[in-house]
Amino acid sequence: MDKNLKNDLLIRAAMSQPTERPPVWMMRQAGRFMKEYWEIKNKYSFLEMCKTPEIAADVTMLPIDLLGVDAAILFSDILVTAEAMGGDLSFEQGVGPRFSNPIRNAKDAEYLNVDCLDKLQYVADAIRVIQQRLDGNVPLIGFAGAPFTILSYLVEGGSSKDFKLTKTFMNNQPELAHSILQKIADVTVEYLNMQIAAGVNALQLFDSWALALSWNDYHEFSHQYNKYIISKLNRKDVPIISFAKGSSVFAPVMAEAQPDVVSLDWNADLLNIKKALPSNMAVQGNLDPFVLYADKPVIKKKILELFERMRGEKGFIFNLGHGIMPDMPFDNVKYAIEVIKEFRY
Ligand code: CP3
Repeated sequence: MDKNLKNDLLIRAAMSQPTERPPVWMMRQAGRFMKEYWEIKNKYSFLEMCKTPEIAADVTMLPIDLLGVDAAILFSDILVTAEAMGGDLSFEQGVGPRFSNPIRNAKDAEYLNVDCLDKLQYVADAIRVIQQRLDGNVPLIGFAGAPFTILSYLVEGGSSKDFKLTKTFMNNQPELAHSILQKIADVTVEYLNMQIAAGVNALQLFDSWALALSWNDYHEFSHQYNKYIISKLNRKDVPIISFAKGSSVFAPVMAEAQPDVVSLDWNADLLNIKKALPSNMAVQGNLDPFVLYADKPVIKKKILELFERMRGEKGFIFNLGHGIMPDMPFDNVKYAIEVIKEFRY
């Protein structure tokens, strides 16, 4: 554990050591629900923000300075690995991510380049600037997308409701799908090890859309690659958080990949899940983010319900089951964090 951290609650909880209260951070904690984010976003495109280390650091620091969360998360996107591999990525306002060169067959996939770590150096640079700014106050979480979730964006050419193209691609061209997944996995190993070398204190692997897969397909097209990635990280004292949305049914399988923390959404009872996992494996989650639209007494009640359920458990990190929405009231997010920080076990 990094002895230089002034607040190491997140690292201790991730390592299943005792904490005086659950640490808190929230997915998409630096984003459009903050007017301070828009002040920056109005001047630059999202990718410019990610690729300019000083700006990425400014945005990463917003929730530390304005919300007082217990961890910073690198300001970037899971799709930057696919872009470095040759995907022509853009983010359009109101549309989300788009690849103008989607992959539907072997010829389309020819552009994919695994030798691309140099194109991601800006992330290592951003991590170094952020760590200077953080000055050991709270840990910095780095991250990457899991291969299946990245593949889905490359095949669909953007976001999807039903993953029809991705599933048809995997069903009809499984060998091609596997060769692409392996390439993404290899890039992701190098990319996350670069983040560790640059100084992140924890890592999260986002398999946001694993929920689309059947039990067998999850094993074949997602789990084995996540396991491969986690096994190849120079993790030393850097805990690994494995996140999937809508996937509590996969939690025991996620645990087989041996992350330090399994992060789940709000479908599951977190204590029951924790009891089903190996005893030294922590959990992260799992408040329904939509609670943050409710009145403050309701927000408090729902957070305390979760905390009472988890009372006495080592290895619990508070998070939402998924990210903060752009139209969530800032004041409610801030209030939720105050409630969490006042709680004591
Ligand atoms: O959590 C954080 O604050 C750190 C930064 C971060 C972003 N995206 C910033 C972002 C992280 C960790 C991500 C991960 C990410 N990106 C995931 C996995 C998490 C999840 O949500 O399941 C996924 C699937 C993506 C892909 C992606 N990026 C989508 C689908 C979108 C559009 C979302 C939308 O609601 O429009 C993005 C854009 C994006 N990533 C924004 C931010 C702050 C919005 C960019 C803008 O300002 O227009």
